[in-house]
Amino acid sequence: MLAIIGGTGLYALEGLERSELRAVDTDYSEEAVLLRCGTLADREVCFLPRHGEGHTVPPHRINYRANIQALARAGVREVLAVNAVGGIHERMGPGALAVPDQIIDYSWGREHSFYQGGETGLDHIDFTSPYDEGLRQWLISAASGAGVPVWPGGVYACTQGPRLETAAEIRRLQRDGCDMVGMTGMPEAALAREADLAYASLALSVNWGAGLVDEDISMHAIRRVLDDGMQSVHRILREAIRAAPA
Ligand code: HPA
Repeated sequence: MLAIIGGTGLYALEGLERSELRAVDTDYSEEAVLLRCGTLADREVCFLPRHGEGHTVPPHRINYRANIQALARAGVREVLAVNAVGGIHERMGPGALAVPDQIIDYSWGREHSFYQGGETGLDHIDFTSPYDEGLRQWLISAASGAGVPVWPGGVYACTQGPRLETAAEIRRLQRDGCDMVGMTGMPEAALAREADLAYASLALSVNWGAGLVDEDISMHAIRRVLDDGMQSVHRILREAIRAAPA
């Protein structure tokens, strides 16, 4: 089964039919994780809003382990994650979409692994290619089918947030080879790999990284880009689900 993880600006899956809330208990949360599961284009799909219903959980407090374990326990095998980002590469101006192929993780202090020794064991997952290549290609074809241009690659930098970066931090990310910056890509991608879920991201740029243009980053401007950009995201997701391999 396929799951969509929605980020900022994506709180429900358009066109999801016969949906019901499924409460999944996990080892990492007292409260069950709520998945909205239903059918879209005759496929069973579950939707999980990463920041909680009503966007109340900031990036550094998201219970990534509970979310990923809930998806795995619900029988999910593939995850398409949607991430709002700031653009660093010139191709990633506001409104641009990408299916990144690499990650650099600058976040800290997050519970980032299921492996804690003892009963939970220890393994070192291979993370050379942090995103599942099959799912990435599937998203890229879906975008092409939906007539929405996407950059079929790019390096995603994950910062801690919730504050935005300084101009010097963005210049450093640029020197490091990062093309876009968000706050929620990790540890989500690594936990998905640990849980043996295929995982890929569709990233929507909602602003230029700090200091790249001569204006402050305003939430007002971000919201405007989000509203438009999410229409493209919905189109790509619908096409991806429609064209899903049986
Ligand atoms: N930085 C980090 N995360 C973000 C940004 C940004 O500029 N825009 C959207 N998510």
